[in-house]
Amino acid sequence: MQTLQLNTPQHNIGHSDQPFLPFTKPSLDEATIQSVVEVLRSGWITSGPKVQAFEAALSQRFGGRTVRTFNSGTATLEVALALAGVSPGDEVITTPLSWVATSNVIVRAGATPVFADIDPHTRNLDLDLAAEAVNHRTRAIIPVDLAGLPMHRGQLYDFANEANLRVIEDAAQSIGASSPIANGGTAEIGKTGDFISFSFHANKNITSSEGGCLVLPDDIDPALCERYRLQGVQRDADGGMDVDVFGGKFNLTDIAAAIGLGQLAKLDEYTARRRALAKHYFTVLTERAESLGIGLPQADSAHSNWHMFQVTLPLNNLAITRGDFIRAMKALNIGVGVHYPAIHLFSAYRKLGFKEGMFPHAERIGREIVTLPLFPAMQETDVERVCDALDMVLRPQLISRLA
Ligand SMILES: Cc1ncc(COP(=O)(O)O)c(C=O)c1O
Repeated sequence: MQTLQLNTPQHNIGHSDQPFLPFTKPSLDEATIQSVVEVLRSGWITSGPKVQAFEAALSQRFGGRTVRTFNSGTATLEVALALAGVSPGDEVITTPLSWVATSNVIVRAGATPVFADIDPHTRNLDLDLAAEAVNHRTRAIIPVDLAGLPMHRGQLYDFANEANLRVIEDAAQSIGASSPIANGGTAEIGKTGDFISFSFHANKNITSSEGGCLVLPDDIDPALCERYRLQGVQRDADGGMDVDVFGGKFNLTDIAAAIGLGQLAKLDEYTARRRALAKHYFTVLTERAESLGIGLPQADSAHSNWHMFQVTLPLNNLAITRGDFIRAMKALNIGVGVHYPAIHLFSAYRKLGFKEGMFPHAERIGREIVTLPLFPAMQETDVERVCDALDMVLRPQLISRLA
C-alpha cells in the first residue's frame, strides 16, 4: 500500500494496493513472439524477407500504394522531407503541439519550422492560422493527428493545393483512423494524400518496437526513397556502386518487421478496443468533467483511433501543480503521461527566436494536458478506476467549486 503526502492543506489524498496501470502498454501475442524467434534462428536478422513482407502487407492495407519502412518515425519524416525537396531556405509549416520529432526534422533538413497555433478543440493545427503563415518560401506543411484524432483531410488538401504546398502527413499517431476527404466520403489515413508517415514506436497503436513507414506519392521513385534509407548507395550488376544522394542509415530489421507483421494483423481489433475504452471514459467522465473543471478531448470515436485519451487540468483553479497530480496518480498506482509541452518553448527553439505568447492555445494546452491510461488490454473497470482516482485527487484541490 502506498500513501501520498502533498504539501497542501489536504495531506493524505490516496493510496492503492491495486497493480500498477501504465498509461500505455503494447499487446504482443504468442504468434508474434514466435515469429521473432524464427527470424533470430534464420541466420538473417537485418533487413530481408520480413521487411519485404511487412511492406507488402502495409501496401495492401493502404489500398495498394507504395510503402517503404524505416527504423523510426523520425527517420521516415527525414526521408519524406528530402524526397519532397525541402532544403535550406525553405519554410515548413507545422504545429507547436506535437512530439518534438515533428519539427526537429525540419531544422535538421536545414529548413525553417514555421509554427501556426492549434485549434483548442481538436488540439491540431488551425488551418486558418496556417494560411496566414504562407509566403513565397513556404514549401511544405507537416500536419499532425494528435492523439489519433485526424485533421480533416478534405480541408487540409484544399488548403495545401491552393497554397501549392507539399504535404507530409505526420500520422505517427493515427494509423487505423480515418477522415473525410476532398471529393466526399471518408478514407483511412494512408490510403489517400501526398506523403504519409507512420511510427511504430513501442507506445503507438501498432509497434515494431522501433520503426516507421512512408506511403509514397506517385511522383516519387521508390528506388530513390530506398537510397535515402541506406547511404544513397546504388549497386550495379558488376559489383560496382555509386552514391548519388547523402542518405542515412534508416533501414528496419527483419526482427522489427516480424513484430510489425504480427501487430498489423491485429490493427482493427486493437482500434475497436481503444474506441470502446474511449467511449467508456466519456460515459464515466462527461458529467464529472464539468464539476472538476477538466477539459475532455473532442468526442470523435468514429474517426479517431484513440491513440491517447488526454484531458486538460484546471490548473488556475487547483491548489496543486500538474507534477503533484502526476505524483498523486502514481501513488494510486496509475501512470499518467504528458504529451506534449509546446515545442517552441524548448530552449533550442527559443534560440531560433520563438517566445512565450506566440501560440497561446498550444502553450496553455501544453501546460495543462495529461494522458490517461488507454491500451487494448485494459478493462472497463480500469477506466473506472482511473476516473475515480482523478476525482479523488482533483476534487479536494479545487480552489473554488465550479458546478
Ligand atoms: C507525432 C509524432 N511524430 C513523430 C514521432 C516520431 O516517431 P519515432 O519515435 O518512431 O521516431 C512520434 C512518435 O514518437 C510522434 O508521436
